[in-house]
Amino acid sequence: IPQSNAGGSSKGLKEITDIKAVPGSDPVNNVLDKFKCLIATQVSEISGADLDKCFGFIEAAKGVGDLAIPVPPLKLGGNPSAHAADICAKFQPNNYITKAEANGIFMCFTIDHAILNQLVIQTIWNKRESYGENVLGKGKKVVVEFSSPNIAKPFHAGHLRSTIIGAFIANLYKMNGWDVVTMNYLGDWGKQYGILAIGFEKYGNEEKLLEDPIKHLYDVYVQINKDAEEEGSDIHDKARAYFKRMEDGDEEALNLWRKFRDLSIVKYKETYARLNVHFDVYSGESQVTEGMDRALKKLHEQNLLVESDGALMVDLKREKLNVALVQKKDGTTLYITRDIGAAMERYEKYKFDKMIYVVASQQDLHLKQLFTILDKMGYDWAKKCEHVNFGMVTGMSTRKGTAVFLDQILADTKESMHNVMQQNAQKYAQIEDPEQVADDIGIAAVKIQDFAAKRVKNYDFNWNRMFSFEGDTGPYLQYAHARLCSVERNAPFSVTLDVDFTLLKEKEADDLLLLCSQWPDQVKQTLKSVEPCNIVIYAFKVAHAVSAAWEKLWVVNQERPIAEARLLMYWTARVVLGNAMRLLGIKPLERM
Ligand code: ARG
Repeated sequence: IPQSNAGGSSKGLKEITDIKAVPGSDPVNNVLDKFKCLIATQVSEISGADLDKCFGFIEAAKGVGDLAIPVPPLKLGGNPSAHAADICAKFQPNNYITKAEANGIFMCFTIDHAILNQLVIQTIWNKRESYGENVLGKGKKVVVEFSSPNIAKPFHAGHLRSTIIGAFIANLYKMNGWDVVTMNYLGDWGKQYGILAIGFEKYGNEEKLLEDPIKHLYDVYVQINKDAEEEGSDIHDKARAYFKRMEDGDEEALNLWRKFRDLSIVKYKETYARLNVHFDVYSGESQVTEGMDRALKKLHEQNLLVESDGALMVDLKREKLNVALVQKKDGTTLYITRDIGAAMERYEKYKFDKMIYVVASQQDLHLKQLFTILDKMGYDWAKKCEHVNFGMVTGMSTRKGTAVFLDQILADTKESMHNVMQQNAQKYAQIEDPEQVADDIGIAAVKIQDFAAKRVKNYDFNWNRMFSFEGDTGPYLQYAHARLCSVERNAPFSVTLDVDFTLLKEKEADDLLLLCSQWPDQVKQTLKSVEPCNIVIYAFKVAHAVSAAWEKLWVVNQERPIAEARLLMYWTARVVLGNAMRLLGIKPLERM
């Protein structure tokens, strides 16, 4: 990999090397911060305003200049417009900030795009796939729990959303320098596993179990539940007895359950791999054991339990969260009891600085109850727990049937995409592994559709819209990336950093490279909203800026120096677009 330091290019523009970093800024990795630091330092010196504030209030300018600071929040007293005019008059322009002018209460700064373009390109050239990363989370640990399907029940749309949003959050924290533990908390415990075991005795088939455990267990579960509904059926009693054996640690009962669990995990892993999703830990409700006993003991000691008809609950009416039942009168525990125990065990094990639960909004109350109980128990880490929720998807069924299995959804997506690809026989023939490509585009389609709006919004699973190459869809994004790759492939020379940066002088080049310079800030800011749509919007802005550049800034049939500079610019855009796609959990394609 060719390396060059900023300023290493002989054809380059003159750089300012002694930029003072404002605390919290990162002028080494974030090119825009260089400009912001230069502005903030001078404005603070001239006005006496806090350096942090001067830096923090810099925003994209509207109308005049490129970057602006509104005067009122600097709290200088007096007339803001007069201050703006005064500070701008005293501001000394330099190579980077060429002009300062007041616009009402705003101080507006014009930046030199030629130097910005050069610095952005040089930085991206050095950083490549790590461009956009920062070290803000250094030394901090986050546990991200997501996906968490229930064994023997369908993997529904809510689980799919949790899976892809959760993986995005894990990627986002990694990019921000955190140590991330990804965890799948399987629904793998409770009386239904007694029912399933009884069902397996009757309807189970070893071969089918090995072939597709998730589907087979679901079929068995549906059948036995039907039987259980018949009059006089003793299946529920038997199931309770069976589950009691499991809770008592009866090896025989546990062996069967363990087999169901293990085989299901093997299958899940395959599917997750297709989605570019990986878990460090496969935990689950079944894995919470002594933590739960300790939880109940602690609740008791803290006087938090109220008895009602032999059952135990925590009264949360004062918090307007109703009551939370933590133990039934037969002594068995519940979903929330296991969650309390699990949280305690996780804190002891990971000493996390943050724990994120990626779970549908339907469980808002459950998680509020959980966090409130942990807080009442006196755990100061309760405030480190966060629920990232999301709305419902309607109409997600396979194209043929109604039962939802993630596998079938992905198989359908792949097939649909494969059909679209075959319509262009010539292109299709050039693709080495069309099935794989179809899968990758299909997965991009599913993810972009899901990530297009704010998380809390419900949406309708729409096959046709999702696969369209027009509009802001997954296939379009893949296409934009593949097209950038093809420009590189087809160029008569290879990409080089040794170009004349002053040749990138058109507005389209400035716009595209300004966007590229915003990527590190985008990564940083999205940590606050944890909204994948922010990254989706950004990725499409890049794709659109690229296509605006295509119209005018050709590489073919140009003089060599111009062609070289432009090819380098497209290379830069390709890296940034690829990084945005990877953050979304999408594998950028080189050909399609
Ligand atoms: N298995 C649950 C379900 O499918 C989701 C688990 C969410 N996580 C948690 N810690 N409660 O509804």
